[in-house]
Amino acid sequence: MSSYVRKKTPGDTSWFVHDRFGMFLHFGLYSLPARHEWIKTREYISEEKYQKYFKYFNPDRLDAREWAKKAKAAGMKYAIMTAKHHEGFCLFDSQFTDYKSTNTPYGKDIVKEYVEAFRAEGLKVGIYYSLIDWHHPDFPIDKAHPRRKDENAAELDKGRDMKKYAQYLRDQVRELLTNYGKIDILYFDFSYPASPNAPEWMQFGGAKGKDQWESEKLIAMIRSIAPDIILNDRAQIPQDIVTPEQDISPDIVLCDRETGEHLTWESCQTFSGSWGYYRDETSWKTPKMLIDMLVRTVASGGNLIMNVGPTSRGNFDRRADAALQVYADWMTDNSRSIYGRDRADPAFGVSDGAYLTQSEDGKRLYVHLVDCPHASVKLTGLAEKIDYAQLLCDGSEVTWKENLPYYDAAGNYLGSYLTMTLPGIVFQMIDPVIEIFLKD
Ligand code: GLC
Repeated sequence: MSSYVRKKTPGDTSWFVHDRFGMFLHFGLYSLPARHEWIKTREYISEEKYQKYFKYFNPDRLDAREWAKKAKAAGMKYAIMTAKHHEGFCLFDSQFTDYKSTNTPYGKDIVKEYVEAFRAEGLKVGIYYSLIDWHHPDFPIDKAHPRRKDENAAELDKGRDMKKYAQYLRDQVRELLTNYGKIDILYFDFSYPASPNAPEWMQFGGAKGKDQWESEKLIAMIRSIAPDIILNDRAQIPQDIVTPEQDISPDIVLCDRETGEHLTWESCQTFSGSWGYYRDETSWKTPKMLIDMLVRTVASGGNLIMNVGPTSRGNFDRRADAALQVYADWMTDNSRSIYGRDRADPAFGVSDGAYLTQSEDGKRLYVHLVDCPHASVKLTGLAEKIDYAQLLCDGSEVTWKENLPYYDAAGNYLGSYLTMTLPGIVFQMIDPVIEIFLKD
């Protein structure tokens, strides 16, 4: 069994830690300007100017089934899609606002299309819901709001009632949890502390956190409807998963500081530098970076969710398709080293540049050759423990030599290691994997 004690949480994360790999989808009005999902506040765009994106929102090439098939082919087992991002536009037919996809030329409930399509392909469905809402008349003008620099910002902020907004949050979350079947993950985004230099008039010093969202009440309502749902901690109350972004989480995230228990976490990453479709963004990760991220995340005991920002026409652009194909090719050969795998037993060691994952029952070990330009790889803690080894992609046998002593600089015996000879073909592969069958 895994040598880690995983911290118990309210939701059911058993499938989550098995499936390991998901797709994030950021889609909304911001897909039209195609310059990042925070475009409204980055460019201080007025409501009137931003309304033209609502007027022309018509993703004629949107085929949620195609999205789902591409996610599945890439080896992704679950997805999370924005139902509402910070701009406040709802991709679902909410009874609490007119600012929704069913009132645009597109005219349809995109959340409905998404959950049906992804479930049909056998994927779990998650929903991203922004706690922030730059369109809602009761959301305060705070330090992230597009109107924060308007001359009449203080005037605009008067009368905005955070309690009414918190009620709107609960109403919409209830709709999402009751009108679309079983939702497996609800992903809130995000809380932020007070600004030391917030102007006098800014409510709560510009802070938004569990008091402003009324997170206790919100989570109690959620748990009454969907007790097993997986929640993140961005409503400022720890729940089931922590979600480091654009990072392969360091140890600080892995363990509960008091108990040392292993946390359940998901690294959220983008193919390029933006979550929403960003036409001119050029920082697209290389194929090797994409696979390295997945391997290093699972070897650290986490999940990886990779984001696609569909274009405003509703399709994935060719760069996203190419990135998904990289995962599809690698996972076809190597998914057995990812699904149902966790951090390896800390008693096992491997050469620099290589990573280990281990099966939940402890019987199989996977050596991920991420940066191994040599003809062999060293393993410690495994002397006499290996029954058989093979290159995972083609099932060809890999041999090893046992019991090679190693010493410290003063000549003191430190232990023995074994070396595995690497077949030449691994040097033409991205992150090849050796599968090890341990003796019973
Ligand atoms: C970052 C981005 C936000 C995105 C989120 C996804 O916080 O600012 O736009 O939705 O990551 O986790």
